[in-house]
Amino acid sequence: MPLSIVILAAGKGTRMRSTRAKVLHPLGGRPLLKHVIDTSRSLDPREIYVVVGYGSEQIKQQLESESVVWVEQTEQQGTGHAVQQAIPFIPTDDDILIVYGDIPLIRSETLRQVVDSLPSVSLCLLTAVLDNPDGYGRIVRDSNGKLVSIVEQKDASVEQCVIAEINTGILAASATELGRLLEGLDCDNAQGEYYLTDVVARASDAGLDMSSIVIADFVEVSGVNDRRQLATMERVYQRARASELMLRGVTLADPARIDIRGETSVGRDSTIDVNCVFIGENIIGENVTIGPNCTISNTHIGDNTVIEANCVIENAKIAGHCAIGPFARMRPGAVLSDQVRIGNFVEIKNSHIGVGSKVNHLAYVGDSEVGENTNIGAGTITANYDGANKHCTQIDSDVSIGANTVLVAPVKIGEGATVGAGSTISRNVGKNELVTTRARLRTVENWQRPKKSK
Ligand code: UD1
Ligand code: MG
Repeated sequence: MPLSIVILAAGKGTRMRSTRAKVLHPLGGRPLLKHVIDTSRSLDPREIYVVVGYGSEQIKQQLESESVVWVEQTEQQGTGHAVQQAIPFIPTDDDILIVYGDIPLIRSETLRQVVDSLPSVSLCLLTAVLDNPDGYGRIVRDSNGKLVSIVEQKDASVEQCVIAEINTGILAASATELGRLLEGLDCDNAQGEYYLTDVVARASDAGLDMSSIVIADFVEVSGVNDRRQLATMERVYQRARASELMLRGVTLADPARIDIRGETSVGRDSTIDVNCVFIGENIIGENVTIGPNCTISNTHIGDNTVIEANCVIENAKIAGHCAIGPFARMRPGAVLSDQVRIGNFVEIKNSHIGVGSKVNHLAYVGDSEVGENTNIGAGTITANYDGANKHCTQIDSDVSIGANTVLVAPVKIGEGATVGAGSTISRNVGKNELVTTRARLRTVENWQRPKKSK
């Protein structure tokens, strides 16, 4: 049967104490709801329906590129009511899987297991057995262990409260069956809500076959309700990412001190020191060394490159055998060829640096094309902005730029040229020329340093 997945995400999330809808809070750099959508998508459903209510405009806007059907639940009258809003959109010959939008760590294998229980039963529930079932709906069974009902804690008797098996909220049923079971649902309960969970008692009364699967690892179905839980789940998520990297042959100085917010692949025998943050899509080669406290976003790093401590690298392409940092900043469009050396307090923006070239200390290179084996001295800057427009600098191969040089763009320095330290270069320099603009040193004869008057 084709599968429709319904994600419930209309609730307010009061305990987050946030103006942002709960399901938009990020985990591993991705909104909670996006995790659930991505996992749902991996089941290859015919369609994904997301029931939204509180903050729906915000949610739809931030996730507008998702190909899901947004279903509005204008008043949050309960989980049963939420599913009822989606039912009219779903073809009657589909199977339906219900998930919540705030359980980011649910695995597709688990969801697949629940769906695969159909059609041999009319309804399959995912449950969990907890030491402390407080707050959850309890699974009520008869003396043969057959499912009878789900009773919410607020409606439960003292005996029912002792039940350790709880409802995770995830269930699957055929669209026709679920539609029928939801018809004429009432809200005659402690919370005055239309409970989705009531379908279990109704199915039991109708003599329908039901099954359940007990989840092994509760973290998969744990919801995020407040920021403490969000932080806890973030660590669980990051631990898993760290594990994956280590299993692929990457050394982590401390798997508890790495954050991967997006997709980062790292080649074998690479080593990552503590407190590095990887954002967006990064591709890092083999035998790369990354020192402590680096932030790396949307960047490629080639094999055998060393990034020393405290570098900030964003939208850059760094080839192999390079040495960067410590304290270097690679801004968007920084493209470094093999064996480039970038030292401390150097900023590179929208520039290509050729093979073997060096920018070792305290420099700014922006909107530039630098050739091979060129050396850019300490304190050199490309003055690429005239107050209105940006201009380019071209520095060819085998050039030596002396310390504290200002290259006023647009300007070109020819191959093999040498620029004396302290120069301001405001016209093109030819091949192999030596240029300098600094004033000559002179000695002032008979000069006396002033003395302090009494
Ligand atoms: C629900 C279950 C409970 C289960 C628990 C697991 C019911 C009646 N109870 O309780 O058995 O143990 O989840 O966490 O189903 N939502 C809507 N619209 C609504 C109400 C809720 O979309 O009108 C969404 C929420 O955004 C959330 C999910 O449904 O994603 C669950 O709602 P919540 O209020 O947290 O249900 P619980 O009372 O925790
Ligand atoms: Mg809840």
